[in-house]
Amino acid sequence: MDIRRVGVVGAGQMGNGIAHVFALAGYEVILHDIAEASLKAALATIDKNMERQVSRGKISAEVKAEALARISTSLDIALLGPTDLIIEAATEKEDIKNKIFASLAPHLAPHTILTSNTSSISITRLASRTDRPEKFMGFHFMNPVPVMQLVELIRGIATDGPTYDALKAVVDRLGKTASSSEDFPAFIVNRILIPMINEAVYTLYEGVGSVSSIDTALKLGANHPMGPLELADFIGLDTCLAIMNVLYDGLADTKYRPCPLLTKYVEAGWLGRKSQRGFYDYR
Ligand code: CAA
Repeated sequence: MDIRRVGVVGAGQMGNGIAHVFALAGYEVILHDIAEASLKAALATIDKNMERQVSRGKISAEVKAEALARISTSLDIALLGPTDLIIEAATEKEDIKNKIFASLAPHLAPHTILTSNTSSISITRLASRTDRPEKFMGFHFMNPVPVMQLVELIRGIATDGPTYDALKAVVDRLGKTASSSEDFPAFIVNRILIPMINEAVYTLYEGVGSVSSIDTALKLGANHPMGPLELADFIGLDTCLAIMNVLYDGLADTKYRPCPLLTKYVEAGWLGRKSQRGFYDYR
């Protein structure tokens, strides 16, 4: 099927990055959020990040202007109804995601594909609450979206072949690379990445190394672009903890138990960059 118009629900860090890459690839994008301020902030972020691409010679000023013109915003979710593809990138809470899909339902065209950018919630369960589980998939982008090459494609148990093929073609048009995952807790990237981060927190908790020695060790010893504690701050410690809990509950294996120090930081409100404090102090 021909996907031309895309609705993005949620204008936060992931939603604005997703709108950015779709607009640059030539799609018409409608970005929805419940707060006007979030939509304004998202457009400013997209403008800034595209300008960075212009200044580094990745795109021309003309391409940037054309891409920005392809993005419209809406506080009314009903306006996303006539799109060909919906990408839900709202808060990582299952009840909120279910409510979003329910509020879209009366407005959707019959052919519209529904996707969620969830980093760990069951696609099969989210799909089962909609009127079109065969046209529902996990569509997991990595942060920062304009830079990261990978998109995880996660089939729910009922997802049909044409839906998968359509999303695979979208990933190709975005110039990104797809990795297919079956629908099990945290899929592939986060099943491997977040336990590594959790282990780094245990390494700190048990006094094996300091924050800087742990991060330096992985940056220079394993060529990671960021150390695991710096990356945890970047992702958000609350998100890391939530994903560990999904793994722990969903796979019932103690090897996924969240480190008590990670829990303590989240309880303190030390969530990483977004709260100005995590393993590092950004104040
Ligand atoms: N938009 C557009 N371009 C951006 C950008 C953004 N938001 N952020 C960085 N860039 C570009 C820069 O312009 C620069 O481009 P050039 O190579 O053309 O010069 C390039 O990215 C590198 O940026 P910087 O030089 O500013 O900084 P850096 O070299 O330190 O790289 C980084 C920054 C790309 C974030 C790098 O540190 C990195 O790759 N970190 C790891 C990120 C990662 O692992 N992400 C996955 C998180 S897990 C996840 O997302 C899944 C989940 O569900 C939790």
